[in-house]
Amino acid sequence: MEKTRILILGGTGEARRLAAELATREEFDILLSLAGRTETPARQPVPVRIGGFGGADGLATFLTEGGYGLLIDATHPFAERISANAAMAAGRTGIPALALVRPEWLPEPGDHWHIVADIPAAIASLGPAPRRVFLATGRQGAHHAEVAPQHFYLVRSVDPVDPPLALADVEYILDRGPFTLEGEIELMRQYRIDAVVTKNSGGTAAYAKIEAARLLGLKVVVIARAPAAGLTSVETVEAALEAIGHLVSPAMKRGV
Ligand SMILES: NC(=O)c1ccc[n+]([C@@H]2O[C@H](COP(=O)([O-])OP(=O)(O)OC[C@H]3O[C@@H](n4cnc5c(N)ncnc54)[C@H](OP(=O)(O)O)[C@@H]3O)[C@@H](O)[C@H]2O)c1
Repeated sequence: MEKTRILILGGTGEARRLAAELATREEFDILLSLAGRTETPARQPVPVRIGGFGGADGLATFLTEGGYGLLIDATHPFAERISANAAMAAGRTGIPALALVRPEWLPEPGDHWHIVADIPAAIASLGPAPRRVFLATGRQGAHHAEVAPQHFYLVRSVDPVDPPLALADVEYILDRGPFTLEGEIELMRQYRIDAVVTKNSGGTAAYAKIEAARLLGLKVVVIARAPAAGLTSVETVEAALEAIGHLVSPAMKRGV
């Protein structure tokens, strides 16, 4: 039986779970692609390639030369460039494609959210008076905090912020989650945090900081998502599996 080759653009827990599910299906041949940002990427259940493709054209060439029958963009909701490239490459090649995008978090009663467009706007919204800020947006973009050195920052990221921020009052925590409510409350109390800055990543692995801030009555500066890149999208691994069944036609499964 000729297998359908599927390229999954990953770097998320959802991509890993989807890959594990698809790997159990003998009609599929899966390759998972990572950007190579983290020094020690999480273990993956399928073969992996690492590094950029060279833009949308490079991705399109990779897909056609590799004989791929399906592209799945399961990257992080804030990985905007690769998602735009995926949509362009799918359009250019005509290869079926699907995006797996976890739903956004929504504010709940008791939340004190201030929604902004990006990290610079988040830092500006902290105001002129010194605050104790939990900067939970990862290392990319953390340097924007340097324009507001009056605040204390607790910076959490998977890999070290390099170079370190040019700030006097900053501490770093290396952790990739998932995070617990108890752990987040303890962390915020330990560092006497009074404002949390986060992307609206969605999902469960990083949600505990939102709950902890709610329970502690803290302000949360939430960075909104940009509009989606244009691929048909689903929100869960289960929905992706169902959609993949429809996208991969019987003819493709037979290798016709
Ligand atoms: N942004 C976040 O907050 C965040 C959080 C958690 C995990 N991640 C993961 O980290 C990775 C990088 O995120 P980012 O925000 O830096 O992405 P990005 O800005 O959208 O992508 C920048 C470039 O990195 C390459 N790239 C990104 N993801 C790739 C993948 N899965 N496989 C191969 N190349 C990839 C592409 O290079 P070429 O143009 O050369 O192909 C892309 O143009 C993504 O895989 C994402 O899922 C991101």
